[in-house]
Amino acid sequence: MSAPLQQAARALSAATNVCVLTGAGVSAESGVPTFRGLDGLWKNFRPEEVSNPDAFARDPALVWEWYNMRRDRLGGVEPNPGHHAIAEIERRVDRFTLVTQNVDGLHAAAGSRNVLEVHGNIWRTLCTGCGRRQDRTGERLDALPACPACGALLRPDVVWFGEMLDPDLWDAAVEAVRSCDLFLSVGTSAVVYPAAGLLDAAAGAVKIEVNVEPTPASARVDIALAGRSGQLLPLLARQAFGLGD
Ligand code: OAD
Repeated sequence: MSAPLQQAARALSAATNVCVLTGAGVSAESGVPTFRGLDGLWKNFRPEEVSNPDAFARDPALVWEWYNMRRDRLGGVEPNPGHHAIAEIERRVDRFTLVTQNVDGLHAAAGSRNVLEVHGNIWRTLCTGCGRRQDRTGERLDALPACPACGALLRPDVVWFGEMLDPDLWDAAVEAVRSCDLFLSVGTSAVVYPAAGLLDAAAGAVKIEVNVEPTPASARVDIALAGRSGQLLPLLARQAFGLGD
């Protein structure tokens, strides 16, 4: 086991209040493409161009095509050992908060409980007319889905570029990060704000990053672990909590 991984495991075993921030990389080993990685399936869809309210106003069918494609892709997808290790860490520490930028619902599927989905959830719809939210997990939606209550156009219940994050969720995230003694950033390119700024709110915490490549966060953490989260997180949890195989 590498020295940084041992150091990280020691910090985790001593921690009582852990905050984890995840991005698309944590779901990569489940077969979900990241947004900016080399594996990006979404090459034809730059997230900044298609995930914004103007694009939806201009061409809702194109935006829905992207979201329906992603919903289809997610249909057969399972959490990977990285998601499970994060759920295990939650079970082992006194206080735990998971802040995720992911909209895929895989953390909850892995058993994580205290999850703040600050960018929303792709399985939910939000009515552009009456504002009603609905869980449409696993359902195939029309190319331009209509609200069953009022007939207006639905949109995915996700946060788009240029939109505010839900203030209650965001406040809870900042509060959790400020009070934690260990902050773990996993599989995020750390370029999309405000989520990327959470690292700086973790002023009093030991800061650890898990990523396959260096990011703008790498130089600002105490321990940067290079590798895949599906591999490193189970090792980290096992070492920190003395778990068997
Ligand atoms: P990105 O696609 O920007 O970054 C994914 C990160 O995961 C990269 O830094 C990869 O190096 C890393 N990575 C890939 N595979 C990995 C693995 N197996 N283990 C560990 N790391 C791995 O995704 P996010 O940072 O989540 O927002 O992007 C942030 C936001 O931008 C998303 O929430 C989304 C997007 O546009 C909205 O839709 C509002």
